[in-house]
Amino acid sequence: MSQTRTDTIHDLSFDEFDEIHSPRPLATEFGGLAERAVSRRGFLGAGASFGAAAFVMSAGALKPLPVAAAAATDRLGFEPVAANGLDTVTVPPGYRWQVVAKWGDPMWSRSFEFDQTTRGSGESQELAFGDNADGMALFHRGGRNVLVVNNEYVNRDIIYGGAGAGEPRDADDVRKGKAGHGVSVVEIERRDGAWSIVEDSPWNRRITADTPMEITGPARGHALLKTAADPSGVESLGTWNDCGNGRTPWDTYLACEENFNGYFSSSDPDVRIGPAFKRYGIGLRDWGYAWATADERFDISRHPNEPNRAGYVVEIDPLDPVSIPKKRTALGRFKHENAELVLAANGQVVVYMGDDERGEFLYRFVSDGRYAEGGDNADLLESGRLFAARFADEGRGEWVELTPEAAGMASRAEVCVHTRMAASAVGATTMDRPEWVAANPNRAEVYCCLTNNKYRGKKPNKGGDPTPVGGPNPRAGNLYGQIVRWAPDGGDHLASGFAWTLFVVAGNPAVHGDANAGSRNVTLDNMFNSPDGLAFDRNGLLWIQTDGDYSDAGGFAGQGNNQMLVGDPATGEIRRFMVGPRQCEVTGIAWSADRRTLFVGIQHPGEKGGDSHFPDGGDTVPRSAVIAIGREDGGLVG
Ligand code: FEO
Ligand code: CA
Ligand code: CA
Ligand code: CA
Repeated sequence: MSQTRTDTIHDLSFDEFDEIHSPRPLATEFGGLAERAVSRRGFLGAGASFGAAAFVMSAGALKPLPVAAAAATDRLGFEPVAANGLDTVTVPPGYRWQVVAKWGDPMWSRSFEFDQTTRGSGESQELAFGDNADGMALFHRGGRNVLVVNNEYVNRDIIYGGAGAGEPRDADDVRKGKAGHGVSVVEIERRDGAWSIVEDSPWNRRITADTPMEITGPARGHALLKTAADPSGVESLGTWNDCGNGRTPWDTYLACEENFNGYFSSSDPDVRIGPAFKRYGIGLRDWGYAWATADERFDISRHPNEPNRAGYVVEIDPLDPVSIPKKRTALGRFKHENAELVLAANGQVVVYMGDDERGEFLYRFVSDGRYAEGGDNADLLESGRLFAARFADEGRGEWVELTPEAAGMASRAEVCVHTRMAASAVGATTMDRPEWVAANPNRAEVYCCLTNNKYRGKKPNKGGDPTPVGGPNPRAGNLYGQIVRWAPDGGDHLASGFAWTLFVVAGNPAVHGDANAGSRNVTLDNMFNSPDGLAFDRNGLLWIQTDGDYSDAGGFAGQGNNQMLVGDPATGEIRRFMVGPRQCEVTGIAWSADRRTLFVGIQHPGEKGGDSHFPDGGDTVPRSAVIAIGREDGGLVG
């Protein structure tokens, strides 16, 4: 597909586009410290043996099982899948997969069949499954299954059918783009052994960039959230760029707004871009979505507070199709990845969240109220306290509360809108792009994918905070990523202190002999880059999904397409379970109630015009999809 502009998102990642249009303040010089930081901890040291030694990054705070005992049983229980560049899904012997739902699939009998040539219109997209499946959860009611899936963004080169150089040509193209975003709620059923969408189910619902939302929490009604269309600052329209997700024990879904900034632009080239806009990457130009051409609320020169109404966690009740989604400002405003919710012993709700941008932070929310089984828990996420993580070397860390006083801000509302600046003010630790957080169901420990950060040790974050090499971010110019985990002191998620270690440092031992070879649990047979999606199954095994470099060349040779692996927290062993099709990201995961089906998201196959026709093959258009994986013998999958 031809390109008319070289500086739109086409050839650039979101971050790269942001870098060009919202540059970092200054380059700093932390380079050259990586090897020292790494070897100081010895995790790649020649004498280090694997097993419990995978955790030598700190002083054994997590007390893993003895190696011998752990090695005696194969908890992973499947044959590893080899890396490959095939345009299909590869699962281990004894497993099979099928497509459940894909972009453009009809959700109602009045929907349109997917048109391979035009790839639909605004109207057809509003009645169809959205694009770019990401975080997901499965809900159950009366033996029926309701699947909720984020539709993070749209692949413009694909959805516009090759017309318009991947940019909307008119208002209907914008309508289609906005409708491809948001959340798809679909009842699914298993019939003759295969899962599919139940058309016309009363639960089927599309939530898009135009769906009314209620603004709740400390920032509700604050001056920063008031607009011409909503002078009281309590109701906004739509959610977009929802990446990972969360789910609550009271059966609601959490959609997490990530790169919300890339949709705003300015018709006035001289409009002032203040520090708050700069910190969140909001500037004169959008990433090519061109929504402001058809909807003026995305024009920051006319509606400067509109960007303050995005970047939140959105709580959705999927079992009430007429419910109004609630933006939970109490959980802060940043580029939310997912929201991992655990209950403290006293019933307070703790939500762990990453801000996925180079050098941004990890957060923890603690609710004021307490969960009560069978009680009214609907608004537990409306008020609470927000913390950012400060990691120290030698395996210790603490949660620092973002009070208005500590942040130097006038109110809690301001902290909830300008959360990044509040966390900078308290000296939170700049991280290597925190993606999904997952909590172990069997013990008080929490894991987070730090996907990569080519600027580690080289450039500060957008707020000017330095990004020194060390602690949980041990490599300069980190291209491979790592997974950090922490155990709250006393096993209490309300504790302010924690002990951390690195579970895995990804790398390529075929290419590198230094820190970029990865930690000892990375081998020629399981290597990967850029861990992103992350979830525990009920056995306490850790499922790791990747969103990385799929060139299979250079520093990534031998790693193949993006993939999904399973890690054993007790032993550190990691085994590749699945490889996705070409140019996809594997993201989003959920299990059926009987744990015999695993649902996984295949996002943007063929995103760069590569040779993908997933999932339908032939000459068909590549389409993001949710797939189901099961065992041929009908056994449990996690
Ligand atoms: Fe949408 Fe951070 O991935
Ligand atoms: Ca992600
Ligand atoms: Ca990612
Ligand atoms: Ca993605």
